[in-house]
Amino acid sequence: MGKGPKRELGACYYPEHWPERVWADDARRMTEAGLSWVRIGEFAWSRLEPQPGELDFEWLDLAIEALGQAGLKVVLGTPTATPPRWMLTRHPDMVALDEKGQPRGYGSRRHYCFSHDGYLEECRRIVTLLAQRYGKSSHVAAWQTDNEYGCHETAVSYSDAAKRGFQAWCAQRYQSTDALNRAWGNVFWSMEYAEFDEIGLPNLTVTTPNPSHVLAFRRYCSDQVVRFNRAQADILRRYSDAPLIHNYMCRILSFDHFDVAADLDIASWDSYPLGYLLDRLDADETEQERFLRQGHPDAQAFHHDLYRSVGRGRYWIMEQQPGPVNWAGWNVAPIEGMPRLWAWEAFAHGAEAVCFFRWRQAPFAQEQMHAGLLRPDGADAPAIVEARQLAREIAKMPDAGTTKAKVAIIFDYASSWAWEALPQGADFTYFGLVFDTYKALRRAGLSIDFLPADTKSLNGYDLLLVPGLLTLSGNLRMALEAFSGTAIIGPRTNSKTEELVIPDPLPPNLPGLDATVSRVESLPPFARVPLEGGGSFCRWFEHLEGDAAVTAATTDGRPAIMSRGKMHYVAGWPDRTAFGHIVANACAAEGLGTRSLPDGLRIRDTATHRFVFNYAPEPMDFEGTTLPPAGVLWHPI
Ligand code: GAL
Repeated sequence: MGKGPKRELGACYYPEHWPERVWADDARRMTEAGLSWVRIGEFAWSRLEPQPGELDFEWLDLAIEALGQAGLKVVLGTPTATPPRWMLTRHPDMVALDEKGQPRGYGSRRHYCFSHDGYLEECRRIVTLLAQRYGKSSHVAAWQTDNEYGCHETAVSYSDAAKRGFQAWCAQRYQSTDALNRAWGNVFWSMEYAEFDEIGLPNLTVTTPNPSHVLAFRRYCSDQVVRFNRAQADILRRYSDAPLIHNYMCRILSFDHFDVAADLDIASWDSYPLGYLLDRLDADETEQERFLRQGHPDAQAFHHDLYRSVGRGRYWIMEQQPGPVNWAGWNVAPIEGMPRLWAWEAFAHGAEAVCFFRWRQAPFAQEQMHAGLLRPDGADAPAIVEARQLAREIAKMPDAGTTKAKVAIIFDYASSWAWEALPQGADFTYFGLVFDTYKALRRAGLSIDFLPADTKSLNGYDLLLVPGLLTLSGNLRMALEAFSGTAIIGPRTNSKTEELVIPDPLPPNLPGLDATVSRVESLPPFARVPLEGGGSFCRWFEHLEGDAAVTAATTDGRPAIMSRGKMHYVAGWPDRTAFGHIVANACAAEGLGTRSLPDGLRIRDTATHRFVFNYAPEPMDFEGTTLPPAGVLWHPI
């Protein structure tokens, strides 16, 4: 692949938080700092429509004009993540209900239920008004739909609207209750339904609900996010040619991002490395301590690669942490240079833009402790110095291109829902397994792509990893049959049907591989299954039988990997050492060079350049060059 995207910087700005007299000056300072993009509007509904039907767009006209006049390109957000208070009076039942059946209260954000048709209509109305007014604006150069779908656990709602919607969805999917009963195995515990309107939501059951019921409901919830987003996208496209973007997050798996992204032009995600390290990556205390002020060295890259795939090659950072945030258990400051490193890492992975959140720290409300590029008094905060440096570097930096990696991992949201519904081991998570796979590849210095589960062709890849995939799709099975590279499949891959029942023949049922999972055990944290040659399986171990070659074994002589040619089925969750061996062997078979990078040093290759990043708190050497903490190095390759 040739030329890469143009690299640009931006900031998130809330004109409604500041007096009109400062807008032009803010805009001037943004462009002086080298920013090109400014995202606005995504929470401003109460100012756009203070009372139902009473519209006030004039302030937004002026704000867009002030920003545009300064030379900034505006990303205009639709304000649907924050329905104003009057909306609740109009639609008292529009709020989402949590798993305990409690309404999500008013007084923060995202309190709507995706299934509520009345609220969806209100969203269509406000989005239409915005699109009509700004669809042809020369300053509005992109749109953001809503804000962070699924944030604060809001993709799943147990409301009446969701129940009615789910019943209709089931009627559509299964056509008859007999078919549904068969698909879910409802004969078990006399759970059979005679009518679709008898089907409830899988919460508040006495003991665990049927996992097939849960998975179906999770598919329904994901489809509701798609429907909600599509309603906005359809309207925006009618009035505007500007690209449509949504801002996704770290480890939010509650809806299928590939499905949502199919209606949009660019994927983006909100990168808060320090908050995420402490609150959602399952990092152990040693890692948390070492990377406290830098973030996990693989977590940003993981999401860059994932969202590049979700965005079909096009992705941004819509929100980049500039300093301490407010929402993690503890909120530390990055070491100097990290905001610059995070931005360069995003660009190295193919990001077209990195926007800092936020321009100026708000002195009020929930996020008053959240840093911005400016302090609340308007003085420079530390990150703006780094933004300026980035802008100078970008101006000098030649096009570095993006490139297809040699290594790919299949990523599938439904697999995450399935293993949440049927974990079998308390610490088995799909994200954890895929992230461990990714980390092992990154420690070996490899660049990685993610592919969706219905991938039709694996052409161009040398190495494919398929950890924990619920069901092997027909497309992927065919692609695997035609694949000439090495495939590392498992554990748990193809172990259930799409309805979350055990298939016949038994798993893994891989093309040409005579291996069968005859028994499965999950392992508590203190238990291990040690492997010949070092390392062990943790969390999960499958007993395999069959005539396929045993290419790795446990120390007590049971199959750990069974293989046919270059297709390998892995019978457990490899620990760090075992993953190291698996990756090294696979890469050796494909002639892919690997390294053994120290913790904190990471590499990303583009078509033209190698980038090296130092996430460690101490200086690190790379091929004779010393990188200071937060150091970034690049050279042509
Ligand atoms: C994001 C969100 C922003 C802001 C930010 C604070 O998740 O999109 O609106 O809340 O976090 O870090």
